[in-house]
Amino acid sequence: MSFRRFASLAMVSICFLAVYHIRQGDLNSHLDVPTVHEDYRQRLGTAREADTRPHSKTLGVGRIYAIGFPDRVLQQEEMTRLACALDIDLTWHNGTNYRDENVPIIIERVRWWRDTHGVHSTAKNKFKFEWSDDIHEEGPLGLQGADLWTEPLAASGLPELPPPPVQDRRPPLHTIYGEDGFLPDRVDAKLVAHWKTHYDVLRKIAEGKDEVAIVLEDDIDVEWMLENRLKRLLPALPSEWDVLMLGHCSSKETDLNPLPSNPFLHPSTNPRCTTGYAVTRGSAQRLVRRLRTPAFAFSRPIDRAFAHIIELQRRPPKNAKPGMHFFSVYPPVVVHRYTSRNDTQVERLEDSTRERMELEGPMHTD
Ligand SMILES: *[C@@H]1O[C@H](CO)[C@@H](O)[C@H](O)[C@H]1NC(C)=O
Ligand SMILES: *[C@@H]1O[C@H](CO)[C@@H](O)[C@H](O)[C@H]1NC(C)=O
Repeated sequence: MSFRRFASLAMVSICFLAVYHIRQGDLNSHLDVPTVHEDYRQRLGTAREADTRPHSKTLGVGRIYAIGFPDRVLQQEEMTRLACALDIDLTWHNGTNYRDENVPIIIERVRWWRDTHGVHSTAKNKFKFEWSDDIHEEGPLGLQGADLWTEPLAASGLPELPPPPVQDRRPPLHTIYGEDGFLPDRVDAKLVAHWKTHYDVLRKIAEGKDEVAIVLEDDIDVEWMLENRLKRLLPALPSEWDVLMLGHCSSKETDLNPLPSNPFLHPSTNPRCTTGYAVTRGSAQRLVRRLRTPAFAFSRPIDRAFAHIIELQRRPPKNAKPGMHFFSVYPPVVVHRYTSRNDTQVERLEDSTRERMELEGPMHTD
């Protein structure tokens, strides 16, 4: 008899003994204790409708995008192993590398846009932020705003810019933050590449066929029961939900009370990191239209951009149209893999898939 089988039989016997004692005890003699069958726990495990739904290779959503980089081979292998562990299919999306040829072009365009629109001007007619006119439109996205910055000049209709000076003594290009507690930083190649990567995958979702998609970065760990968790979490979201942050790092995502429908769902207030999130197709469109607004594009790290959009929803300026509804799972079900253990500062998983993988040893392939 294998150990596992022995152990499960032993558990069943212990269950039986306990119930037998309860039935015999005086205290419980008045209780009508039902006969317990061996498979009681097994049957409980399938009592809910969601329990018997067949396993979904895409975790119950239309598609899971994994952001990869051709030069991060190790991370791609690790993600593939994680996908095997969960028995899920990943759709790879090539992210923008910070050395990508478009990155310095985008940085020059941000500088150009700010200069030509007096963003940093101290004059009386100070720059007033506005979203692009189309942010509440629906239908084809076309190419607009910051999309044009990486188009060929002739097609974009934009003026040609001189190349950046070899010895760049221009004032540094800073991020613009409207959110609480974060200080401006540089708009650098990594920030731009990270933004472009998520923008591109959101655009794929916006123009794709999936009603809901999940985006995962390539250095993550996830809850072992992720599929089960999502089965409960997604239906508990209000119908107008836009984005569900499956993970976040060092964020106080419990500032607002959880939803009555599920104690692990909180309206998001200030998420950090973009390790994993679910988004609807319509919401991906709404995000694309916001993220490509020239005054907003590449203005801050992408997670700060999400935080800013959330802030506008929570404290909308006068006459603002409806904003976007972000929610966070707390505790997170997706975390950065290297911070998933021992670090008391970060949010950890209850039951780490990677920990199980390490305990089990190398994957057998035959
Ligand atoms: C990602 O880039 C690599 C190398 O350039 C290429 O071989 C691969 O087909 C690309 N994958 C996707 C999904 O575009
Ligand atoms: C975590 O802490 C334990 C106990 O201090 C230690 O044995 C273990 O090696 C640590 N793990 C990692 C990944 O640092």
